[in-house]
Amino acid sequence: MNGYFIGLMSGTSADGVDAALVEFSPAPRLLASHFLSYPPPLQQQLLHFAAGHYQGDAVDQLGALDTELGGLFAEAALAVISKGEISKSDISAIGSHGQTVRHRPKGKHPFTLQIADPNIITACTGLTTVADFRRRDVAQGGEGAPLVPAFHHAVFSAIGEHRAVVNVGGIANITLLPAGGNAVSGFDTGPGNVLMDAWSRSCLRQPYDANGVFAASGKVDAVLLDALLADAYFHRPPPKSTGREHFSETWLTEKLATRKLPAADVMATLCELTARSIADAIQRQAPQTMSVLICGGGAHNAQLGKRLTGYLPHCMLSTTEAFGVHPDWVEAVAFAWLARETLAGRPGNLPSVTGAQRPVVLGGIYPA
Ligand SMILES: Nc1ncnc2c1ncn2[C@@H]1O[C@H](COP(=O)(O)OP(=O)(O)O)[C@@H](O)[C@H]1O
Ligand SMILES: [Mg+2]
Repeated sequence: MNGYFIGLMSGTSADGVDAALVEFSPAPRLLASHFLSYPPPLQQQLLHFAAGHYQGDAVDQLGALDTELGGLFAEAALAVISKGEISKSDISAIGSHGQTVRHRPKGKHPFTLQIADPNIITACTGLTTVADFRRRDVAQGGEGAPLVPAFHHAVFSAIGEHRAVVNVGGIANITLLPAGGNAVSGFDTGPGNVLMDAWSRSCLRQPYDANGVFAASGKVDAVLLDALLADAYFHRPPPKSTGREHFSETWLTEKLATRKLPAADVMATLCELTARSIADAIQRQAPQTMSVLICGGGAHNAQLGKRLTGYLPHCMLSTTEAFGVHPDWVEAVAFAWLARETLAGRPGNLPSVTGAQRPVVLGGIYPA
């Protein structure tokens, strides 16, 4: 199915909604994009809520957040439509990831929960919306994450080159694309920006360390880095996925409790942790990798790019822009693509990535 689709994405950073209007022919072409940043009090509320810090009735608050976010996701979709200069009636559907508030794919009752009511998105835009992509994969015994590798495979794989796609959002995930092969793998490597953002909020009073300048001004502390890398998640074999539930501010505070360091050194060490855990994952799982394509907000962190280059001297590092999709919009484009797969009746998950028993058609469809 060719045509126009909209992808709406907000990841673990909870920074706001990325909206992409995409034409598939069948390769994706980004026609317009829009970022709707969350008002700071809403981001604060989401971060508290996701961390389990709330007073009062949690169900009431979840319901209200679901509705409020549904309205914001719809607003982001309408904004990207108005930038796109195409008629709304030409758009087949919206694919909305929603906002993850909890991700617990392991345990007695595994679940993952994304909110931003798709009924509201459909009602406000008049467009069919596909949403709730992850839970079908969890129902098949999978992690429900990452879901972008199928898209990375469709768009970024190349005959003759072993590639890795690295998405540095709040959490970082990688997709390993062997040359010309179908044996795609992928998993969450651990923290992307989530710990650096938490540290930036607490000591710089800024949402993030712009371009990694503060990290670059500090010195990596080897003792702290080893303590952080000792976390069992880094040593678990894939399939695996993680979130703020694990790499939380509490996790960071506990690790920092034993060590008094200048703030810049902590930032340098957290940046190093992200670089090192990504590089280790590539070297362990796909040492033949020749080319690394970076996307997500972390692509703007120059210090992180420098450290990744240091750890992967034999790889060509570039952002996905050189391969046709700007790094800020890869995930939103991926959810437009996943909506297209769903409407075409094709599976969107890769069992080799999520650990699901089989490929399944993902998402619920909310018809216009
Ligand atoms: N100029 C920048 N310098 C450093 N980091 C940046 C910059 N721009 C964005 N980021 C990082 O990217 C994050 C957002 O990335 P994004 O891909 O949207 O993550 P998510 O998918 O988790 O929402 C921000 O929270 C911040 O950490
Ligand atoms: Mg984001």
